[in-house]
Amino acid sequence: MTKLQSTKISLPENLRRDMVELLNRHVVLLTDLSIQTKLAHWNVRGPHFIAYHELFDELGGRLMEITDMVAERAVTLGGTAGVPVQEVAKRTTLPAWPVEQRRDAEVIRLLAERWAVVANSVREAIAASAETDPDTSDLFTEVSRQLDKDLWFIESHLA
Ligand SMILES: [Fe+2]
Repeated sequence: MTKLQSTKISLPENLRRDMVELLNRHVVLLTDLSIQTKLAHWNVRGPHFIAYHELFDELGGRLMEITDMVAERAVTLGGTAGVPVQEVAKRTTLPAWPVEQRRDAEVIRLLAERWAVVANSVREAIAASAETDPDTSDLFTEVSRQLDKDLWFIESHLA
């Protein structure tokens, strides 16, 4: 069991450890989603190229900000934030991004699928932290709202 940094934050260590674990699980998902969004940004082709290329760039930028917020809550609670990319690959629950798939309509459908996995997992994290650490829960609420909004941007391009 990893030792946490000491802090004057008045939450018991076992509770902080649970929150750090929950937060890092989402750092992993968000990191994978960021990379997958970049792969979509780079490789997409088709009649909607420029709209999708630019949308994916904006989405990726917001993901970076969100990931930073989640990771920094983990260190705030005395934990270690994030994991090396090799660990991300082992721990992520997202399917791998099919880099050979370039067709715009298919790329946006695949991105919506993965986006929803992360957004819905964050929604579960709101409830999982609500009783024990309302601040972490509030952070997940903010992240959830942003991910849902961006899912709307993505889904609005689907027929
Ligand atoms: Fe770019």
